Amino acid sequence: MMNKKTVRDIEVRGKRVLLRVDFNVPLEGGTITDDTRIRAALPTIRYLLDREARVIIASHLGRPKGKPEPAFSLRPVAERLSQLLGQAVPLAPDSIGPEVKAMVERLKPGEALMLENLRFHAEEEKNDPSYAKELASLADVFVNDAFGAAHRAHASTEGVAHYLPAVAGFLMERELLFLGKALMQPDRPFVAILGGAKISDKIGVITNLLGKVDKLLIGGGMANTFLKAKGLHVGDSLVEDGSLEDARRVMQEGGAKLRLPVDAVVADAFSANAAARVVKVEAIPEGWRVLDIGPETVEIFRQELRGAKTVFWNGPMGVFEFPRFAEGTIAIARAVAELEATTIVGGGDSVAAVEQAGVADRITHISTGGGASLEFLEGRVLPGVAALADK
Ligand code: 3PG
Repeated sequence: MMNKKTVRDIEVRGKRVLLRVDFNVPLEGGTITDDTRIRAALPTIRYLLDREARVIIASHLGRPKGKPEPAFSLRPVAERLSQLLGQAVPLAPDSIGPEVKAMVERLKPGEALMLENLRFHAEEEKNDPSYAKELASLADVFVNDAFGAAHRAHASTEGVAHYLPAVAGFLMERELLFLGKALMQPDRPFVAILGGAKISDKIGVITNLLGKVDKLLIGGGMANTFLKAKGLHVGDSLVEDGSLEDARRVMQEGGAKLRLPVDAVVADAFSANAAARVVKVEAIPEGWRVLDIGPETVEIFRQELRGAKTVFWNGPMGVFEFPRFAEGTIAIARAVAELEATTIVGGGDSVAAVEQAGVADRITHISTGGGASLEFLEGRVLPGVAALADK
């Protein structure tokens, strides 16, 4: 399944290693609010440093528009990484150029530095070959641990692999192992839970997973589009009218595999303090909107999860930022955590939900990839993975 070479398969001792990571972490006023992605790359970084490699760490952060923007500097990330490693990781002033080259030259075996945000160059997202070559010229080998950015064919994820021996890091390996096994040979029953606001974002995943899972449980805003496609009245609920046809097709193909909410918590406004009540999905009042799955649905989803051996969950069951409408999502997080199964949670919001429910440590694998894990589960080839050397 994991047919790509990893850092274990090549000699890294004493080498200059260009290590692509996904340190695109959430920042609030210059402070990192979740450093999961940094911690997740530590095993690879430590492995390289222990082997006296000289490590050149590269990442993007946010979406600057192809030129330097101080708000998107990797400085806070380099500082956090230094703390976590217990070793200084200086930040270079850029990702390419003579000054960066000189800094790399001065690196001693077992030392690391971090390049400044790759997206300060428009060439990064354009996968420009000369920029990729410049990056490659800094190192002897390329290690890609940036699973979260592997769905992007950018210079640092794809282009650079044309100019250097290219292998996977341990995080990349772990992500591909768990997600790959779920897709190719899951222990059964395999139950997927999909939520979140939009069906249009996830139609590819729904379609691909339907062919693989034993049960597909659908909640969150996107369930409304299914309910409407069934002919129910959903009041003022969020609905994607452009996806009604897709919803009908999924219901037809999914048949008994598909479980939709039977009741909902509805609100008279989109607000944390809105009036709320529980109704059957056949009785959503005019002017009200669905903001969470109801208790009966939670019970049905729990039953469906009982005995599952593989579970994949992406997307919250409701607007869980509002405590009054978080119960469905929290209940599902707990139900997943209680299982004796391989449980995989992907996507920012569902990861936040398992953390809020205090059960993150009871999930087998929390993916660091949002978009990347979804594209992988759609069955798409990720360019950042495809570019790595085969075993
Ligand atoms: C992510 O956070 O999903 C990745 O880092 C990719 O970021 P992007 O969507 O800006 O390419």
